Amino acid sequence: MEILGLDIGGSGIKGAMVDTVSGKLLTDRYRIDTPDGAEPSDVARTVHQICQYFQHSGPVGVGFPAIVQHGIVLSAANISKNWIGQNLNVLLSQETENHIFSLNDADAAGIAEMKFGVGQEYLKGVVILLTIGTGIGSAIFTDGVLVPNTEFGHMKIRGKDAEDRASDAVRQENDLSWKKWGERFNEILVTLEALFSPDLFVIGGGISKKFEKYAKYFTVQTKTIPALLLNQAGIIGAAMFAKEQSELSG
Ligand code: BGC
Repeated sequence: MEILGLDIGGSGIKGAMVDTVSGKLLTDRYRIDTPDGAEPSDVARTVHQICQYFQHSGPVGVGFPAIVQHGIVLSAANISKNWIGQNLNVLLSQETENHIFSLNDADAAGIAEMKFGVGQEYLKGVVILLTIGTGIGSAIFTDGVLVPNTEFGHMKIRGKDAEDRASDAVRQENDLSWKKWGERFNEILVTLEALFSPDLFVIGGGISKKFEKYAKYFTVQTKTIPALLLNQAGIIGAAMFAKEQSELSG
């Protein structure tokens, strides 16, 4: 089944048609800059433009960088506060006249990695995926089942939100060395290892390409590997989610 998957991020909104059986993109990614301020109505208009570009009518999956509980946005760390309380599914469905199914962006990436990426060998056990970009997103799976909206990026480490110490944006803004950043990120892994005893950590986001530069500073016993699907994971996972939800809602 072909479904349009979208990944809404702090700097860009990206979409592609996805084959939900193979998990492969059927088209190139189409990207539009996230409108300044990322206000709800502006983002909705941009999502509409992307749907029009693909001339798509039918279910659309949308990964969104906040807590999304049953379609309702409940947090706004790196987006306009005006999102809080908005029903993302209703807002985007009205704007685009498509049936929109939305979820947290890291949960979307996790779904794709579990089904088509590194998680395939870990369908038994506990897997934690962390996506590192403007913020830090998280997804946790037990025996392949997602517990949504975990928000480990907002755990307090040394009195600060984990993502305010160790996101990729913070690394770049403060010109942190790989050693310094790797040691900071390691503190997140150590904390999660103590709390969840996972079988696998997966590191996603653009920085996963540079894995060998910082992984040597990780001290956790848990196997830790970079994600496989890179910048496609969010789009693929959103499409998978939309397929599943549209089938459930008949
Ligand atoms: C948000 C998460 C999101 C992550 C990555 C965090 O600031 O709270 O919901 O998954 O950024 O975009």
